[in-house]
Amino acid sequence: MQKITLNVNGRSHSVRVDPDTPLLYVLRNDLGLKAAKFACGLEQCGACKVIIDGQAVPSCHITARSVQGKEITTLEGLGTRENLHPLQQAFIDEQAIQCGFCVPGMIISAKALLDRNPNPTDGEIKSALSDNLCRCGVYDRIRRAIKRAAQIAEESSSWKSALSNPSHATSGSTPVSHTDGMVGTLAFTPGIDAWVRINPDETVTVFTGKVELGQHIKTALAMIAAEELEVNLTRIRLVSGDTAQTPNEGYTAGSMSMEFSGNAIRNACAEAKQILLEKAAEKLNTEMENLMVKDGVITDTASGSSLTYGELFGGKRFEVNVMETGFLKAAEEFEIVGRPLYRDDLVAKVLGEPCFVQDLELKNMVHGRVVHPPNYGARLVSVDSGSVMQLPGVIKVVRDGSFLAVIAEREEQAIAAMNQLKASAEWKSGPNLPDQSSLMTSMKSQPHHSYWIKNGTTLEEPPPTMETPSNAAKTLSATYFRPFHMHAAIGPSAGMAQWVDGKMTVWAHNQGPFPLRAAIAQVLGMDGSDIRVIHMDGPGCYGHNGADDAAMDAALLARQVPGRPVSLKWTRKDEHAWEPYGPAMVMDIQSSLDKEGNLLDWNFDVWSCDHSGRPRPDREGGSGLLSAWYLEKPFKPLSKPWSKAPQLGSSRNAEPLYTFPNQRTVNHLLPETPLRVSSHRGLGSYANIFAIESFVDELAHATGADPMEFRLNHLEDERAKAVIQAAAKKSGWEFWKKSKTPDRGMGMGFSMYKNRASYVAVVVDLHVNRGTGQIFMDQAFIACDSGEIVNPDGVANQLEGAFLQSASWTLKEQVSFDREGIISTDWHSYPILRFPDAPRVDVTLLNQPGSAYMGVGEGAMGPIPAAIANAVFDAVGVRLREIPFRPDKVKKTLLLN
Ligand code: FES
Repeated sequence: MQKITLNVNGRSHSVRVDPDTPLLYVLRNDLGLKAAKFACGLEQCGACKVIIDGQAVPSCHITARSVQGKEITTLEGLGTRENLHPLQQAFIDEQAIQCGFCVPGMIISAKALLDRNPNPTDGEIKSALSDNLCRCGVYDRIRRAIKRAAQIAEESSSWKSALSNPSHATSGSTPVSHTDGMVGTLAFTPGIDAWVRINPDETVTVFTGKVELGQHIKTALAMIAAEELEVNLTRIRLVSGDTAQTPNEGYTAGSMSMEFSGNAIRNACAEAKQILLEKAAEKLNTEMENLMVKDGVITDTASGSSLTYGELFGGKRFEVNVMETGFLKAAEEFEIVGRPLYRDDLVAKVLGEPCFVQDLELKNMVHGRVVHPPNYGARLVSVDSGSVMQLPGVIKVVRDGSFLAVIAEREEQAIAAMNQLKASAEWKSGPNLPDQSSLMTSMKSQPHHSYWIKNGTTLEEPPPTMETPSNAAKTLSATYFRPFHMHAAIGPSAGMAQWVDGKMTVWAHNQGPFPLRAAIAQVLGMDGSDIRVIHMDGPGCYGHNGADDAAMDAALLARQVPGRPVSLKWTRKDEHAWEPYGPAMVMDIQSSLDKEGNLLDWNFDVWSCDHSGRPRPDREGGSGLLSAWYLEKPFKPLSKPWSKAPQLGSSRNAEPLYTFPNQRTVNHLLPETPLRVSSHRGLGSYANIFAIESFVDELAHATGADPMEFRLNHLEDERAKAVIQAAAKKSGWEFWKKSKTPDRGMGMGFSMYKNRASYVAVVVDLHVNRGTGQIFMDQAFIACDSGEIVNPDGVANQLEGAFLQSASWTLKEQVSFDREGIISTDWHSYPILRFPDAPRVDVTLLNQPGSAYMGVGEGAMGPIPAAIANAVFDAVGVRLREIPFRPDKVKKTLLLN
């Protein structure tokens, strides 16, 4: 250790550290400046950027020694809560944030750009931020925020200009009442007290078992509560995902938070207000109809006397269930719902305040790191833990079977110890993986269980074989493929755990605190009631990633150091190599046309494994937690649940919404998968809709029909037609053919998520470089009907992010592996969409006041790959059926045609 002096944010700081410690760790752990994030440790993603002598540079490798005497600026040095920097204000104004993990690096890069170029073009912005990655896909909002900070005018998205007319419900829509029966999670947790508490200080605490994953859910739920209770939003205190406080709402997944928690909170708050009014009438000795409420103050209009919620009921319990009939406000009375509101966590995120579990710091905290095996199934033969124990700061080397980890006082000491452990460990390798190049064919040829899906139901009888109609004049068939995809959170998974007097507290950023509690209890042999899991923000996850596993790792280490909180963080390689992936899928479609061009049949076959690997109670004693499989007494992986129900796993959106005749849909479930898999944003809908909507385009061209008209002609649902027409109108679809230039194309995709949730239509305008095979997306247009909109900005943000993430999967992503293991273990070997690749995304929202809430985070994923593939066909006349559409593949396809 040596004394090092650093000039940070205009102040001089002296610290005693190993001078070769990366600057990032000194900033975060010695100076308490948590804005810069560890995200890759490889200088590949920009999340750890700081400004050094005017340049935005990563801080994860540069040593503390090398920056002595230089001027260092972190995000904390830009502005304060009272006086935000214009860039920080602009990021809030544009809500250029989903999870926010990338935001410090983005603002730092933008600051360095504007300092040297106060008037940048779009191209200059994209270029300056090209090495800053955002996995949530808010690039276009960040571009707009930078222009706003630079005071450069920018056209707003369609949804914003439509806000002046918030009730533009489409004709023919069928509103669904929120008051039909016990809605949402109320069916399982009907007590009002589980959802809402009136506090003596005039605040209201609202409880939800759902958690914030960057999808703005906490804002939307708080808005609903404030609306029904008629209090200002600032009075709402939302508690989410804490097993000691909130209702158990399982996982935050499937775009169902509004449907379940939103409806429960809405009805609970509406009924709570009714009870408060009844009590107030009694106390004020007046009639109910004389009462009015404004911001939690109940006034008797006859006498003028009033009572506040806090005075009337502060600290008391309702002790009744929500009744079947609610007391909901009518949509026309809404004052909060339907208007874009800022998330209350944005200020902390643009200032770089500690927000994430990765930033959590507790008294006496120590740092843990796990040494993962070299590949699936590998077993630890030997390790030299003695020499590692001699390293500075090492507290304990933990070995339990093949689970290997280290605990140290400081983070960089834990990393050094992990690296030395890794170097000395000998492993017996696990079984070889199959040849990746034959994955598609091997999936179709391996043993499987086939299920026939008809009209939304899985039938018990064996599926019929496909037969070509006798009057077929033309038969089309095609095969589509989606590889294994990563969730690839921008920050690696992390967890904190503390073991005190036989009780465990775990801080996690996973999607389901209650299921995680049960899974950890099973592995540790504890009673679930002795474990508390508290959700904290983390980098966006987009499904089941490594967050549960990291929390388990932290709990395993916490038992080794009773009383001391253990901060456990995965590395970038851990995340890329060990997270459960989105499963590969193969889809075959065949249809025939008669001689008049009428469609005669539709055959859809999908092959994939089960998509559910989440930790859950398992009757056969298996565990979904990674480390559990490597303990001295290992747990088996979870038994196969065989999710043959329609809309689960690979069957999600396998049936088209179209009125095609003679439909035959078969789901071929594979018992085995070579890679670890689990729930990935949208489950099977992404690949199934890609295949369906691509083939619909093929059929339209085969019949000489416009692809939009072909869709409209085979739909009966007016809301489905409306989103298609809205997206087409915004994109200028009908004029497109006349203005088309060579190698430029426009394509469309559509879906109704799960055939019962959001309607989304997407049009992509792109061009293709025939020489390189590269696809350049120029513009994207999304139209969405997600029922009644609570927070339009939240909906638009989700759609924009979904577009960029889905486009990234489609154009760039695939997990790569060789016979020995995963080889895509960083952002170079697993590239994702970058700033220069991101087009302008225009969103049109079709609000349906009075209709049921329908989530949007997953609903847009499917139409996008089809819109891109169809646009490529329009541009250069080739069909892309295998994801990803990387330039080499596109070029090869062009050469073959
Ligand atoms: Fe950029 Fe989440 S907001 S990674």
